[in-house]
Amino acid sequence: MLVEVLAAHLPAYTKMVVTGNRGGLPVPLTLGPSCIARVTDVAPDVFHVAPGDVVVDTSRLDAGDGDEILVGWVGLGGTGTGTGTERTDRMRTVWRDGVFAERALCAKETLVKLPGAENYPDPARLSFLPWLCIAASGLHAAGPLTGRDVAVIGATGQLGGAAVLVALASGAATVTAVGRNKAALDRLAELGPRVRTHRLTGDRAADAAGIGPVDVALDTLGATPTADATMAAYDSLRRGGTLVLVGGVRQDLTIPYGDLMHRRLTLRGSWMSDNQTVTTVWNMIRSGLLDLAAVELLTVALDDPATALDLAERTTGLAFVALVP
Ligand SMILES: NC(=O)c1ccc[n+]([C@@H]2O[C@H](COP(=O)([O-])OP(=O)(O)OC[C@H]3O[C@@H](n4cnc5c(N)ncnc54)[C@H](OP(=O)(O)O)[C@@H]3O)[C@@H](O)[C@H]2O)c1
Repeated sequence: MLVEVLAAHLPAYTKMVVTGNRGGLPVPLTLGPSCIARVTDVAPDVFHVAPGDVVVDTSRLDAGDGDEILVGWVGLGGTGTGTGTERTDRMRTVWRDGVFAERALCAKETLVKLPGAENYPDPARLSFLPWLCIAASGLHAAGPLTGRDVAVIGATGQLGGAAVLVALASGAATVTAVGRNKAALDRLAELGPRVRTHRLTGDRAADAAGIGPVDVALDTLGATPTADATMAAYDSLRRGGTLVLVGGVRQDLTIPYGDLMHRRLTLRGSWMSDNQTVTTVWNMIRSGLLDLAAVELLTVALDDPATALDLAERTTGLAFVALVP
């Protein structure tokens, strides 16, 4: 499918991706993991979208049997423990270029139609949708959230901020936003009376007491030097609770067997999002249940990548940078 890129989220850690310490990339390539786009042309065997449709590109290409890639980005799912396989290498050879571009050629599997998005007043703001969907997939992996107490660890980041918005829109009784950045926590608290905040102290026991008790904890942290904040979230769970991991923590977790068993806890991972979740989150936005006005939007163009990467690195919390080519 050929698309005209309307806006693409520039993740806060994009500079780390281009400097090479977030995993290998098949270079040279055009980066860009996701965008909002208008379809301009489709191959004859494409039936789920048509020229003129507004779509989200999720970049996730799934070969089945565990081999998945993100087109134009780092991150390999499934087998090979993140290092990839001969098959993901072949997939990346064919589908290499991402969507930080004016126009892009996309695999049909990566595009999900957003019915009615042609009339959404601010397509650049909609480019935050993929992050909301990643957060939603993680939260919904713990079951229905209505009336439950939810904590988001790393809520001061973009994925965490997205998770707070989704948890509120999904009917959580309370959402405890957990992070270090006080200004970002204060901003989250302004979202409404169901939001509580806890500022991380670095002390696992104190943090667990400040976070919980909760039914669901979602870990959206970036790379941390220890697993203490994640384990504080584990400790904060009520009996029968679920901890879902979606962040960038590259630490091993020491889970006490007897404790997990006796407290009937669930520990889950979640990676990217499925198409059903994209539709669910888009419907939340479309219906007004989730208002993107809460998220600050900064835009950049294609002409000055270095400045754009610097701005993205500084932009986190309930704010994000969108590339509008
Ligand atoms: N599972 C998936 O499908 C998926 C998809 C996309 C991204 N991710 C991962 O999600 C992670 C977060 O993404 P993002 O866009 O939210 O990034 P981000 O905006 O940079 O947020 C990073 C978060 O991590 C916190 N943090 C960083 N270093 C910390 C430390 N040493 N101690 C405590 N907290 C620390 C930050 O806290 P403060 O702001 O309070 O300092 C912030 O809340 C990324 O690393 C990425 O790998 C996963």
